[in-house]
Amino acid sequence: MGAMTLAEKLGQLTMTASGYAVTGPIIVGDSTDAIKAGTIGNLLNLVGAAHIREMQRLAVEESRLGIPLLIGFDVVHGHRILFPIPLGEAALFDPDTWALTAREAAKEAAAEGLAMTFAPMLDVARDPRWGRIAEGPGEDPWLATRIAEAKVRGFQGANLAAADALASVAKHFCAYGAVTAGRDYASVDVSERTLREVYMPPFAAAVAAGAAAVMPAFTDLAGVPMTANKDLLRNALRGRFGFKGVIVSDYNAIAELVRHGIAADLAQAAAHALKAGVDIDMMADAYRRGLPVALERGLVTMTEIDESVRRVLTLKEQLGLFDDPYRRGAVPESAAALSHRRQLARSVGARAIVMLKNEREALPLAHSVRRIAVVGPLADAPSQMRGPWWGAAEEEGAVSVAAGLRAARPEFQVMHAPGVDIDSEDVSGMEAALELCTAADAILLCVGEAATMSGEAASRAHLGLPGKQREFAEAVLQRARASEKPVIAVLFSGRPLVLPWLAEKADAVLAAWFLGSEAGNAIADVVTGRVSPSGRTPVTWPRAQGQIPLFFGQRSGGRPADPNDRYTSKYLDVPNAPLFPFGHGLTYGRFALSNLRVTPVDVEDIDTMRIHVDVRNDGPREAQETVFLFTHDKVASVARPLLELKGWAKVTLRPGETATVTLSLRAADLRFLGPDLEPLFEPGQVEILVGPCADRSKLLVTTVDLSWSRPC
Ligand code: BGC
Repeated sequence: MGAMTLAEKLGQLTMTASGYAVTGPIIVGDSTDAIKAGTIGNLLNLVGAAHIREMQRLAVEESRLGIPLLIGFDVVHGHRILFPIPLGEAALFDPDTWALTAREAAKEAAAEGLAMTFAPMLDVARDPRWGRIAEGPGEDPWLATRIAEAKVRGFQGANLAAADALASVAKHFCAYGAVTAGRDYASVDVSERTLREVYMPPFAAAVAAGAAAVMPAFTDLAGVPMTANKDLLRNALRGRFGFKGVIVSDYNAIAELVRHGIAADLAQAAAHALKAGVDIDMMADAYRRGLPVALERGLVTMTEIDESVRRVLTLKEQLGLFDDPYRRGAVPESAAALSHRRQLARSVGARAIVMLKNEREALPLAHSVRRIAVVGPLADAPSQMRGPWWGAAEEEGAVSVAAGLRAARPEFQVMHAPGVDIDSEDVSGMEAALELCTAADAILLCVGEAATMSGEAASRAHLGLPGKQREFAEAVLQRARASEKPVIAVLFSGRPLVLPWLAEKADAVLAAWFLGSEAGNAIADVVTGRVSPSGRTPVTWPRAQGQIPLFFGQRSGGRPADPNDRYTSKYLDVPNAPLFPFGHGLTYGRFALSNLRVTPVDVEDIDTMRIHVDVRNDGPREAQETVFLFTHDKVASVARPLLELKGWAKVTLRPGETATVTLSLRAADLRFLGPDLEPLFEPGQVEILVGPCADRSKLLVTTVDLSWSRPC
């Protein structure tokens, strides 16, 4: 640090794109000269081992101080081989698999020389109008927290310096998912309690798991943009959570402080961000251009700049970049590693599918089915399967539904026609597709959103099927009804859609999100019965848009809905209940739960409860059931949500088999933030609820008594 000039220091605080995959308004040209001059210390959006190595060589061998570059990329759900989008992968409710896919993605990206991923995205989201719900963990803080831990563990591995480790960037701190009206980048205004109970815990968990970096959200929180939010970045993140790592701004976010209306110019914007603790300026060039002016004006000190430079250099050191800047990308991956990863993508894809409905034994397809009409605009759409953030994956790399089915069984006669486009008014192809339906034994109706209709800058006010898809789907359903053919709707989306009519009329509905490189094979595995579906939805599916935001963790209020009392909390025109609750997901088994018991029932704050429930598979096939554990604190000094998720367990049972499932719950996890927002363990009764989803009518309930620990 003593040898560095101001320009070189500001270079270490600067991250620019190489022009590969720009996600924002600023496009920077060739950075080669700046790297040699030591005035760019970090890059994003660069892929390919040879390119990365050459850029690194310029920094290490041709710059004055030879400080290696930190090169990051959005390795969100895979790099070249894609796993399901994060919302889909959340449906697995399986921390080990969440960690495993992150590990595989890290290996693949690190083998190209990358050292940082802008993931995991940990924004709890309860408004499906917001397109970025696709990139995140869903609606629940407990679930998001488990994902945070698993992903950081997976991306970073045991040792950040290892050749296959990536520095993980937990993003976007904080409450980005609560943008007003679900409109991306809009203002956020949530209570301090909701911030601490819902939006912050996943970030605290990521920090506790050792996340190397954090990215503040683009948004403002009650008027204070997160990029300049000293209270949350310095006091909460670095203070309360104990975060020691690097804060990297979001794309151009520092310059946007001017548009937010809290800075008059780039120098003031840069000063705000630096003082809040933002170390790396991604794509705004505000630090290089603004901080020298800010220094002159006395808005920042050299000590503050040095503090950030030290953090960036420390991270580079932890990543092993000073020891050997080429350790990542030195050895290309073997063909066996790639094929293993594809297999994993297939099995994870199949497990991410949520079977929302299955009637008349539509699924798995009967053995008599030979001719299958695979219709709809997403039936043979390989590039769409990758989802809204496809990283460095090739378009041709993803398997479509039609291709997956053809490969699944040679005896299948797979007939395909799109019928309509995803989003156009053209209905000229409808009749041809309907004719295929007439000729088929079963119909797979593949409808939904285009991949780019969710993700960043992809909010939607209408959550139905775009274009003429509904018209087409209704025609298919009508044609099928006349001939008694099963219609299996395969729904592609980056969010829950609002489709009560489809859920009513189709025989089966699969939420297939965007499953990544192996999508079609994964769907074929479930449809043919090779894999019994086990995914559970990590978000509530509304029956009407006007119900949004709809999530299970609501409070009772003083006038809970009562059909016989007008002056209670409900709508005149739609029930309060969702179309599908959080946790919903059918299997090829049929599970019954009984005999819920908890020990101890008198609980002290140091205890761990064991919760047992018997699970029996009454169905005709082996399947995996997920058993959720919720709690409800009936009387507390601050009203608690009607259900709070506290865990889950999985069990696979053969037909007729019974097993006892045991969950554990630490009494300490029943603490909540008291009236003063400090954690409080409050004596009283707490309901323990266990069952298949967040629908209270389907849960077994028992009650425990909490009391203070007796002094020993
Ligand atoms: C997104 C981030 C992403 C960054 C870099 C931004 O537009 O908000 O999530 O990491 O671009 O690609």
